[in-house]
Order: sequence, then C-alpha cells, then structure tokens
Amino acid sequence: MKQFISVHDVNNISALVEKALEYKVNPFKDKLLGQNKRIGCLFLNPSMRTRLSTQIAAQNLGMEAIVFNVGSEGWALEFEEEAIMSGNKVEHVKDAAPIMGKYFDVLAIRTFPSLKNREDDYSELFINQFIKYAGIPIVSLESATLHPLQSFTDVITITETFKEKRKPKIVLTWAPHVKSLPQCVANSFSQWINAWDKADFVITHPEDYELDQKFTKGATITHNQDEALKDADYVYVKNWSTYTDYGKIYNNDPEWMLTNQKLTITNNAKVMHCLPVRRNVELSDEILDGPNSLVVQEASNRVWAAQAVLSEILNPHPLKGS
Ligand code: CP
Repeated sequence: MKQFISVHDVNNISALVEKALEYKVNPFKDKLLGQNKRIGCLFLNPSMRTRLSTQIAAQNLGMEAIVFNVGSEGWALEFEEEAIMSGNKVEHVKDAAPIMGKYFDVLAIRTFPSLKNREDDYSELFINQFIKYAGIPIVSLESATLHPLQSFTDVITITETFKEKRKPKIVLTWAPHVKSLPQCVANSFSQWINAWDKADFVITHPEDYELDQKFTKGATITHNQDEALKDADYVYVKNWSTYTDYGKIYNNDPEWMLTNQKLTITNNAKVMHCLPVRRNVELSDEILDGPNSLVVQEASNRVWAAQAVLSEILNPHPLKGS
C-alpha cells in the first residue's frame, strides 16, 4: 500500500479486516516490522482516539511515533500554490513537507474542512499538497472530506459482531447537533460500506442534508427515519452539516436523536458512533450506556485498523486483491 487516503487505496477490504483482527488477537506478532522506522503524526486539529490509537499501533509494530500538533504548536502553514505570503501564514507546505519527508518514513496527517467553501474543501488541498511534496507514504488521520481509518474500523467492528449467514442491514442516520460539522465520517462510512458490498445499506436524513452522490451511490436514501430503521442490524449515528448549501445547519429536529423507543423498530440493532458524541443531543444516554451500544468496542478497534494499515505500508509483500 503506497498511501492510505480513502478506500481506493485498499485492494482487498475483507483481507485487511482479517489482518486487523489478527492484530487484535496478537498485537505484537510483527513487532520487528517497523524497527528503525519513524512515523510523524501531524495534527492540524484536535483528536483523542486517532492520535492515541495511531501511536499505539505504530509502537506495536516497533515504530517510533512522533506527534506534532502543527495547529497549536507549529508555524502556520500556507497550502496555496504561488501564494504571496504577506498574511499570517509563516511557512509553505512546499518547504515544510519535504523536510518531514526526510525526518520520517511515514507521515500521517489530520486536517478538517473550513466548511466555508465546498470546492476548496472537496479539492482536499491540504492532504494532496503533503502527498505532492513529502515524498513518503501519507496516511489520512481524517481529511476535509473523509475519515478512512474510522470507516475501516467500522467495517472491522461490524465484521466481528455479525455472526449470521446473511447480509446485515446497516443504517446511517443523521442526528441533531449544536455545531456545523464536516461530512467526513458520513461520506467515508458510505464509501466504505458501498465498496465492501456485504450489506444492505440505507442512509436516512432530513431534507437538505443530502451527501455527495460520489460517496452514497448504491445506498437506499430516505427522509423517513422510522422506515429506514425497520429491521436494521446496525445503526450508525452521525451529524453532518449541509453539503449542497454548504456547511449550514437547516432542520435540527431533536426527534432525529436515536432512543430506545426507536430501537424497537430495528432488529435489536447495534448502535455505532465514531465519537466524540454530544450526549442527549446527538445520541441519548440510554443508548450510549445500554447493551446495544458498540461505541467503546468500535473506538478500541481503531488501534487494529491503524496497525493493519501501517503494516501494509511497511510490508514488502502486500495483500492480494479480491
Ligand atoms: N473518531 C475520532 O476520530 O476521534 P478523535 O477525533 O478523538 O480522534
């Protein structure tokens, strides 16, 4: 694997899931694979799970992980080509990225979208500039439009918990929130579940919250949450802001928050969320603290997802395609 930016960098999702689950059973089986290698983890934005799980994953493979909080501790980076840097941006990515490429063997980066200009955000300028100038493999720790390590984790979690010999019904439901949030997790989950192609996939959200069809194509989409939830095996809960009239909050109806009453429509569905979550706004206490919640198992699986991806990047013998 040359980079990990989206599901398109994975040639066999199921094999990568199996690899991650093997690491869950035996975390140190490849403890020499990353010996004398170093990963730089660059954070332009806050994180808890991604930051810690990536460091643990790297250390399990014998790699040294160095975290750099660029957003709060580094020089402000300019990403635009031919920028006249007379504002508050101090260093161009063209100068910074090649240096990081000399310091590290792998560079992992977290950025967020501005949510102000859709074309800019969806061009993925930040991560693409690192790919262009760093000269080493780049791993997305969440970009402007996608969160591939989270979505890979979600597929791992569904695989390890679904034991029936049929396709699970997976529902991605929009939920209310107090802030305008990126579409990354919803885009990425849709992209991975569609590419995995082992589930009946339904997306439900209020009118005006349509996601980019590039990611959702293949899923059934409905504005009727109750209809979507019927017989669901998994309900993935996530807020996102509007895509069409970009980055806005329109309808924020609290009725869209998942409750135990709503779960009665489902097939005793397991409930997932990437976290962090606003309790009793986005998801109710009774679900998060109840037996249907998978959120802790899901977050703990972030280690094995990151470890499988880093292993593939380090490994001279990659997994074969399906
Ligand atoms: N799910 C997730 O990415 O969590 P963090 O923002 O804490 O990394």
